[in-house]
Amino acid sequence: MSVSIKSTREIELMKEAGRLLEITHKEMEKALKPGMSTMDINRIGEEVIRSYGCIPSFLNYNGYPASICVSVNDEVVHGIPDKNHIIREGDIVSLDAGLIYKGYHSDAARTHAVGEVSPEAKKLMEVTKQSFFEGIKFAKAGHHLHEISAAIGAYAESFGYGVVRDLVGHGIGTHLHEDPQIPNFAQRRRGIRLVPGMTLAIEPMINAGTWKVAWLDDDWTVVTEDGSLSAHYENTVLITDGEPEILTLSEA
Ligand code: MF3
Ligand code: CO
Repeated sequence: MSVSIKSTREIELMKEAGRLLEITHKEMEKALKPGMSTMDINRIGEEVIRSYGCIPSFLNYNGYPASICVSVNDEVVHGIPDKNHIIREGDIVSLDAGLIYKGYHSDAARTHAVGEVSPEAKKLMEVTKQSFFEGIKFAKAGHHLHEISAAIGAYAESFGYGVVRDLVGHGIGTHLHEDPQIPNFAQRRRGIRLVPGMTLAIEPMINAGTWKVAWLDDDWTVVTEDGSLSAHYENTVLITDGEPEILTLSEA
């Protein structure tokens, strides 16, 4: 296992990959409306990615059949777009997207409310997003990876939420998934020491109820075991000499 350190040139390419993915997310967010299908969102996201000459990295990855993972309500991640799955007012919809720009990957996820959602759903989405920001307070050269993991987990658990353990964040670069793995909960090991030039996809997946998840028979869709809501928030982050740079987010 080795963690890649990106050169100045590679970092420029990662930044562009991140910028284009942020645009993709903004376009999907604008388009997201009750009455449309999860497949409609996939089509819009893929069109934006391809319009910039980029490749949707999820498509055919380990056989995943679409470009965007669309996970609704109790679906945690990897929901497969379906023309018969209609998005409704009150749903929370996690959109996870990745693209390749000149050989470099970016990866980001957002969870959106469709119209008015319950106060419980709103809170879960807010806390999930904030847990990412709690985590990246430690995404600095000299800190150890487990500090990020522990901060995310402690914050989410302080609200009584379940932190998904079966899926983790990851290094990212010329591959979608590189070392290290980045759990969203405390580790016994300190993990690697962070160094400028590392690029990490940090992605808390937080459930309103139990942390336990199950896989649907499509072999992809991950759902909460107890049927509670789940939210996902992810960005591709660059470790620098100072504050981390969030490559897939220009304004918080
Ligand atoms: N953000 C997810 C991840 O990092 C996306 C992968 S979905 C897949 O694992 F379809 F590409 F597998
Ligand atoms: Co990811």
